[in-house]
Amino acid sequence: LKYARIIATGSALPERVVTNADLEKLVETSDEWIRTRTGIRERRVSNAEETTGELGYRAALQALERAGVKASDLDLIVVGTTTPDIIFPSTACLIQHRLGANGCAAFDVNAACSGFVYALGVADKFIRSGQTRKALVIGAETLTRMVDWNERETCVLFGDGAGAVVLEASDEPGILATCMHADGGYKDLLYNPVGVSAGFKDEPNHGVRINMSGREVFKVAVKTLDSLVGETLAAAGMHESDIDWLIPHQANLRIIEATAKRLKMSMDRVIVTVDKHANTSSGSVPLALDEAVCSGKVQRGQNLLLEAFGGGFTWASALLRY
Ligand code: ACO
Repeated sequence: LKYARIIATGSALPERVVTNADLEKLVETSDEWIRTRTGIRERRVSNAEETTGELGYRAALQALERAGVKASDLDLIVVGTTTPDIIFPSTACLIQHRLGANGCAAFDVNAACSGFVYALGVADKFIRSGQTRKALVIGAETLTRMVDWNERETCVLFGDGAGAVVLEASDEPGILATCMHADGGYKDLLYNPVGVSAGFKDEPNHGVRINMSGREVFKVAVKTLDSLVGETLAAAGMHESDIDWLIPHQANLRIIEATAKRLKMSMDRVIVTVDKHANTSSGSVPLALDEAVCSGKVQRGQNLLLEAFGGGFTWASALLRY
């Protein structure tokens, strides 16, 4: 069995909607500024119970049900997240137990906003090696837990959510190419300064926050994604015109538009959810994929290009036949 194929998708969002108008009450900002700079209109924000593990579990359950796959049949669970419920056990282990998939391999991948696409690439390798027949790949985040709601530069950008896919070994084409990269030299442009081994501070939220140089991140993201899509097409032996849908990481509509332009794709072939979800980090690509599948836009047999860029910096892509 040569390929890893997506047999079903699922997603989960927190209940609470926070609009740009709501944020106008917290910081000196405006709906107009947020919409024109980012494309964001609203985002979902988790309550205490809606943890990364909870959202990831709900997305996974939906994907498994739609796939008709029993949790006990899974060989592998990989969760892309940078906001795990607790440091250990991994969120993958927490979700595994709730699903009743005990015994299979389960681990988290931390690649910031590229987490889901990295996780998908890892699961693809497991399946291609012949070791794994059925895998669950989840992207789940509660990045708003890190947000400083007094800082307008960052608090308007993020939201919470999760998406999941069930992969199966198949002779029919599925994932055709994956690319993964990182450059730790860019750490200072986008990072959270606090962990376990370093940085813990006696400050509000223990010093956990998102430090971001927005304008610089924007520039590097556009340039890097430009070469990433070229590399991915070459790896799959395809051309721009072979791609039916672009499913990009949802950080900023202007970054998405730049990538679409590079691919010579009109925006009606691009899945956009940033207006409703804002940047959900590892959650964004699988959330957008699930929405595109459920709305009937994405059809079986079509070629999808998934890509993401995030803190690290990390960047990754997957070109697949759905
Ligand atoms: N409301 C009103 N004004 C604001 C706000 C706000 N929420 N935030 C910043 N401003 C002000 C700034 O203070 C600045 O004022 P000044 O000109 O008087 O100094 C002005 O707006 C313009 O700021 P810029 O940073 O130049 O605005 P820009 O057009 O670059 O947009 C943004 C900022 C949206 C952050 C953009 O740079 C961006 O999206 N960068 C990518 C970063 C990103 O997406 N990070 C997420 C994680 S990484 C990833 O997933 C890609």
